[in-house]
Amino acid sequence: MKSLTVKMLFTSVLFTLPSLAHAEINHAEVKVPSQDIVEARALIKAFGGDLKHALTTAMKSDGPIKALTVCNVEAAPIAQKNSALSSWKIARTAIKVRNENNAPDAWEATVLRQFEARKTAGEDIKTMEYAEVIQEGEQLTYRYMKPIATAGLCLTCHGTQVDEAVTTKVRALYPNDQATGFTLGDIRGAFTLKKQLNKE
Ligand code: HEC
Repeated sequence: MKSLTVKMLFTSVLFTLPSLAHAEINHAEVKVPSQDIVEARALIKAFGGDLKHALTTAMKSDGPIKALTVCNVEAAPIAQKNSALSSWKIARTAIKVRNENNAPDAWEATVLRQFEARKTAGEDIKTMEYAEVIQEGEQLTYRYMKPIATAGLCLTCHGTQVDEAVTTKVRALYPNDQATGFTLGDIRGAFTLKKQLNKE
């Protein structure tokens, strides 16, 4: 996979100012976000909202064991529903995954490590994001990621002291689960989005 050299958040900047193509763009200085990033942020709001709604409803009405089944059965269709409404592919990934289908590709793994480094350097994960245009052959793909923070609610199933019944159910559904041991405010994972730019 070949990445364009620009660490960029704003495709329009790259394409209208080719002379900047090899420069690092400091996103703090860019005032007007590109349409792509506006779309990506909006989709994450919708997708994240749907997921949280499904999770909190199940937790409240049926408790964590039933909620586990809901996550297991509904996470992928919710992602697909949100992807189908647009030209984007939307998913979640993490360094330590519960579902192996969510494992990061090489680009995502690099960005996840970058997020950890930025957090360690003191950056607030609430406003953290990263976007880049990737070139593979002729294909240009806009890729965007945003970290997902570990909230109190998440600890029931991803925390350091997970209830035995929950652990048993998690192991049954995900024998290779790695997604426990998180504490409040940790980066649990990230939303990951991509869109083909020069699709016919
Ligand atoms: C009821 C248990 C439960 C709770 C509570 C829960 N999760 Fe999960 N989480 C799961 C399950 C099950 C999966 C695997 C879903 C799948 O099969 O795609 C998962 C997967 C994920 C993933 C995708 C990456 C991976 O590990 O496969 C992220 C990111 C994630 N959870 C974040 C969170 C966050 C953030 C919270 C709190 C807002 C949270 N979860 C609360 C059970 C839970």
